[in-house]
Amino acid sequence: MTTSDFATRLLAWYRRHARRLPWRSRRDPWATWVSEVMLQQTRVEVVIPAFERFLARFPNPRAFASASDDELQEAWRGLGYYRRARLLREGAAEVVARHRGRVPSDPDALGALAGVGDYTRVAIASIAFGHAEPAIDGNVERVFARHAGITANVKSSATRNRLATLVGERMPKARAGDFNQALMDLGAMVCTPRAPKCLVCPVAGDCEARRLGLQQELPRLPARKPSVAILARAVLVRRKDGAVLGARIRDGEINAGQIELPGPGILADHQDAGDALAHALHARYGARFEIGEPVARVRHGITHHRIALEVHDAKLLGRAGGRLRWYPTDDPAVPWSTPSRKALSAHARRGAR
Ligand code: ADE
Repeated sequence: MTTSDFATRLLAWYRRHARRLPWRSRRDPWATWVSEVMLQQTRVEVVIPAFERFLARFPNPRAFASASDDELQEAWRGLGYYRRARLLREGAAEVVARHRGRVPSDPDALGALAGVGDYTRVAIASIAFGHAEPAIDGNVERVFARHAGITANVKSSATRNRLATLVGERMPKARAGDFNQALMDLGAMVCTPRAPKCLVCPVAGDCEARRLGLQQELPRLPARKPSVAILARAVLVRRKDGAVLGARIRDGEINAGQIELPGPGILADHQDAGDALAHALHARYGARFEIGEPVARVRHGITHHRIALEVHDAKLLGRAGGRLRWYPTDDPAVPWSTPSRKALSAHARRGAR
């Protein structure tokens, strides 16, 4: 198969089988940017409804640049990794300040915006503006490692360069955006990590991995970082009217800007409850607590941490103040962090039994 055959077959397949995704039907660089940021760490099925909701609320960079923290939390609900949303807002403000509110078409200007890393820059530039550069994510890496039979570690810089060259050589310069997205779809639907569907693959004819029977072996990835188990603790303090004590998470901590049940922090491994927990809470919030029994336990994963969050019944001695505030639990606009939200639901289910 010649190089142009590869593109011809791939694009013919894409014309028939492309996923119908809402950002693909909009010719709007802001929509492309928003979709790419959402897709950075979140699966397509989860992104679709959030994307529609977000764009209805913030149809252009100017609208989002002036969003408050709470509006941002609300618009990003369900997607997680809120830091992305804060960077997107920062990037949107830069577009307002430097580019009169229009997303710049120049790849370097795009790359200079907050939150736009190299992959995102190339994805936006190619999809929204037709700039011919390969966008290589995990899917594309897998497709090409197999097609070219690359047995080296695909994350090494030498292999990454080689992949970029291979993709670039096959990319039709006038169809860069479609070509990049066709590769993403091929990786997501056909050249899947396990059990690739080679029988329906448009480029199986000259696939090296298929010839050698190595589809399941490739790509070779570096060993995974071992995961770390953490026992995190927090307290559930309830006021007579049902409101629950929460603390705004500080900048620089995971889930910054959201509200969490007071505790030593979601990544603090806290084996001891009782006095040790009361001390940690005093150090963190300047408030005194009387710690009671555990009332809920939930699991949550953050990158390579496996967190068990144990929540204790507790009393606040004195008044709420500083970062500690009372929050209603039935108001969806309160941006509880995901682990705290899980703990509150587990506790509510327990109460209902
Ligand atoms: N993942 C990242 N960008 C994507 C896109 N534009 N379409 C589908 N999946 C993606």
